[in-house]
Amino acid sequence: MRLLKQPWLLNAILFKVFANKKREANASRQARAVAEAIITRVKDKLLQDNIKREVITRREEHKVRQENVYREALTNREGKSSQNNLNLDTCNENCLGNCTKLEGKDTCQCKCNSRNYHENILEHSKNTGNPNETGNTAPLYNFVEVIIQDQLNPNIPKHDVLTHDELVSEIIVMLFAGMDTTKTANVIVLIMLALHPTIQQEVFNEIQTVMGTDPTVASTYNQLQELHVLTRVIKESLRLFPSAPLLGRTTAEEFQIDGHTIPKGAAIWVPIFSSPHRDPNYWPNPDRFDPDRFLPSETEARNPNAYIPFSIGARNCIGQKYAMLQMKTMISTILRRYRILPGEQCKRIEDIRWEFHLTMKLLDGNDIRLEPRE
Ligand code: HEM
Repeated sequence: MRLLKQPWLLNAILFKVFANKKREANASRQARAVAEAIITRVKDKLLQDNIKREVITRREEHKVRQENVYREALTNREGKSSQNNLNLDTCNENCLGNCTKLEGKDTCQCKCNSRNYHENILEHSKNTGNPNETGNTAPLYNFVEVIIQDQLNPNIPKHDVLTHDELVSEIIVMLFAGMDTTKTANVIVLIMLALHPTIQQEVFNEIQTVMGTDPTVASTYNQLQELHVLTRVIKESLRLFPSAPLLGRTTAEEFQIDGHTIPKGAAIWVPIFSSPHRDPNYWPNPDRFDPDRFLPSETEARNPNAYIPFSIGARNCIGQKYAMLQMKTMISTILRRYRILPGEQCKRIEDIRWEFHLTMKLLDGNDIRLEPRE
């Protein structure tokens, strides 16, 4: 029946049978090339940073040596000062070396100013990094940098560090899991907004209220947290079209479910696209787009496992918070500048063309139009 209603799925099946192998081999080759390029670039940067750090360390050592010489000279001078009965206590702490209060002296030799100057240098030399949000000046490294640093570190045993191939594989997973999913979700949200102009207006009004009317002013983290209508729209879009529509698991032991015995080692696929995401027990009129399903009162009344676009359990999506921020940033940036209108081919939800892979693939024909706002 579904094939009759959505005949392009037949093309998809034929394509899958005959062309997928070649396409997959090409995609793997390209993904590997991207991962290798990232590793090379990060390695170059780290080596450059190490060279710079060595130079900085040498400069710092030189500075400390100079300071010691200065401190020594100062101690000698203080000794002489007290012999000359200079009144150091009268010094103004703002004198910054221009103090004229010291009788018989043109330049400041006071104790407090010298000490301040000295401490300033020490303080400055400690703060070589830029403070992050928590005020911590320690530099932040991404996971590729951390692993390459470990690989380059001769003090870490080789068996405690990821190999080159393992790192390539981690990068591919991160790119694939993070980019393909959010790209698909962003497209679905834009289509939903195009097909539901009243909801689009509601989202736009909220964006204007929270972020202001000037689209050139970038959004902040706190503002993105305030976009409740947009959040509901994204959630409802991910319910109807989850970017990862199938979850896979292998059973660790035999178990019973609904009178069926599932053996140990069986491959289980959970088609979240249909169940639980379109199960009418949880979602009345399940094919309808209705962001209000995610109002707090509705969410509280529902089994939390009925909505699992990011999966659940120990291996759920590690990027879900980042994904929500990315999608809110992307959609709000577009909406502040453009009105989103339906395209020539995609005029109803039923017109959306997709096919299942490990992730959801959107096919040609899912079009929208953008109209600049004045
Ligand atoms: C709309 C956006 C996204 C959706 C719908 C999504 C969904 C999922 C799902 C369903 C899983 C499978 C979990 C399981 O098998 O139980 C997963 C895993 C994963 N996701 Fe996401 N994801 C999204 C964005 C991201 C982003 C932005 C990142 C990283 C920047 C990311 C990184 C990962 C990783 C590394 C895993 C594997 C976790 C593991 O095996 O322990 N995802 N994601």
